[in-house]
Amino acid sequence: MKFFLIVFFVSNILYGADAAKVVKLDERFAESKNCKACHMQLVKDWEESWHSNSHFDKDEYFRKSIKYYSRKTRKSLNGVKVECATCHNPRISVTSTDINYEIEAVLGLDKGSKVNKALKDDALHEGINCVVCHNIEKIHSDRDETYRGINRVTWTKSGLMSGPYDDAKSPYHSVEYRDFMGKNSNQLCFVCHANMSSVQGVMFTNMEEEFKSDGKQCVDCHMGPKRLGVASTLKIDDGKAKKRMIRKHGFKGAHDEEMIKNSLKLSAWQKGKDVVIMLKNPQPHNIPSGYGSREILIELDYTNGTETIKNEAISLTTYYKDRRGKATIAHLAKTMSKDMSIPARGKKVIKVKKAGGATSVRISVYYKLVNDEVHKLLKLKEKQWSKKMLITAKTLKLK
Ligand code: HEC
Ligand code: HEC
Ligand code: HEC
Ligand code: HEC
Ligand code: HEC
Repeated sequence: MKFFLIVFFVSNILYGADAAKVVKLDERFAESKNCKACHMQLVKDWEESWHSNSHFDKDEYFRKSIKYYSRKTRKSLNGVKVECATCHNPRISVTSTDINYEIEAVLGLDKGSKVNKALKDDALHEGINCVVCHNIEKIHSDRDETYRGINRVTWTKSGLMSGPYDDAKSPYHSVEYRDFMGKNSNQLCFVCHANMSSVQGVMFTNMEEEFKSDGKQCVDCHMGPKRLGVASTLKIDDGKAKKRMIRKHGFKGAHDEEMIKNSLKLSAWQKGKDVVIMLKNPQPHNIPSGYGSREILIELDYTNGTETIKNEAISLTTYYKDRRGKATIAHLAKTMSKDMSIPARGKKVIKVKKAGGATSVRISVYYKLVNDEVHKLLKLKEKQWSKKMLITAKTLKLK
């Protein structure tokens, strides 16, 4: 086997082309520290965002998913890291690995390779940083749906920042207005937040398809409303910083208890021997959405006036099975269970049998980032992954 691999490897060096494309990023712009002098507040906002945590060293769930995926597909760990970097780390200097690299990795000959060097780059640790979003020259919406992240964009020439203003001037970098930074910014988000598919071609989330807007854009909720401030603290306007309408760069989402709170509306009533629970979703995308295996947990605590007589929990989540029919993560799914999420600007009604003798029931609705099945598969340790975040709760008197 090894002999065969070596022959294959040598012949590939001789005849195979290196698929890795190198795109160089100027050091003056590569990291957010280069922007601090003039955009301090925006950098601080962004540092608290999950975009800045999208590198595998900073996100336990992502890191362990990569390991799991590598083990199950027998693709090298670094090969998987490069594959996932398409959206999680799009400024990586190699965009794909090929069979040559896989063979090098098996033989332990990959130490000094371009791929390994690319993965060690400091700027990559910043995940989705300034020069991911603001260095997009063009979004290729005409490309096949499955081309996302790095494969859906062209980068600007080094030092050119695309932004929401058409009259900005900066001594540090050149600037240009882009529609996808202004009136059409959903397009920017859909570069990555759409069409997430497994290795088997199962599309497990598509925020673009489920999106039902009432005119609001993603940035209205995830960067907050436009408010008066300064885009840059540099004194450019008659010795003063220019006043501008700006947004926060926090991109708060499912990891944030404040965002989760009240994101669904709960109503409940008794109908004969049943308790009917209705969850309405006023948001323009499903809840949960985004990454697979998120969960909504509805807990019912029945009392008879003095003590708890019964607890019950209903889970709304999606489960994934691999080629052999075994439980797996979304990215390896061959099949998935019914989508249990509450549809965008829609509702879900659930009926349960009332506990006998109960005079009231406390209904609490929680959000969890990972359901128990995947939590166990990946052996996640950090508290955040098992934490129940309260969405809403209410008490219903029973007859
Ligand atoms: C996930 C994409 C994304 C990332 C990452 C990002 N930005 Fe932005 N940025 C935007 C969008 C979208 C707007 C336009 C918001 C609007 O006006 O609707 C914007 C606006 C701006 C503006 C204009 C002022 C404002 O707040 O509207 C500046 C300056 C800016 N970004 C700098 C930065 C810097 C510096 C970083 C890195 C710390 C960064 N951005 C990271 C998407 C991003
Ligand atoms: C020496 C100061 C300085 C530094 C350093 C700097 N910028 Fe700027 N930047 C500016 C000024 C000034 C503006 C224009 C502000 C205005 O017109 O309100 C600007 C505007 C922008 C805009 C908005 C452009 C538009 O047309 O809408 C973006 C995006 C941006 N900068 C990103 C960055 C990023 C990313 C970095 C770090 C790699 C960075 N800047 C570093 C001074 C700076
Ligand atoms: C280059 C790809 C890319 C682009 C462009 C992008 N995102 Fe993201 N976004 C990601 C990834 C990857 C994560 C997950 C990071 C993690 O959890 O480690 C993420 C996380 C988020 C989160 C946090 C979700 C949570 O679970 O807490 C929000 C909110 C978000 N993005 C909104 C946006 C919006 C709004 C835009 C458009 C202005 C946008 N993103 C553009 C890739 C992208
Ligand atoms: C009207 C406000 C609103 C708009 C507009 C909006 N969102 Fe959200 N989004 C929320 C709320 C509230 C949550 C938290 C509840 C949750 O996690 O589902 C959320 C959660 C998310 C999450 C985490 C979802 C999960 O379950 O992992 C992502 C990713 C996200 N939004 C991206 C987007 C993108 C991309 C757009 C535009 C296409 C968008 N959002 C538009 C309000 C909004
Ligand atoms: C099409 C772009 C895209 C690709 C490719 C991609 N991801 Fe993601 N990933 C995202 C986005 C966008 C989010 C944020 C969704 C959310 O938070 O709801 C995300 C979130 C995640 C999360 C949840 C992180 C958290 O903190 O909750 C995990 C785990 C994950 N991805 C694993 C992977 C793995 C493993 C790969 C490679 C096999 C991969 N992703 C490839 C776009 C992508």
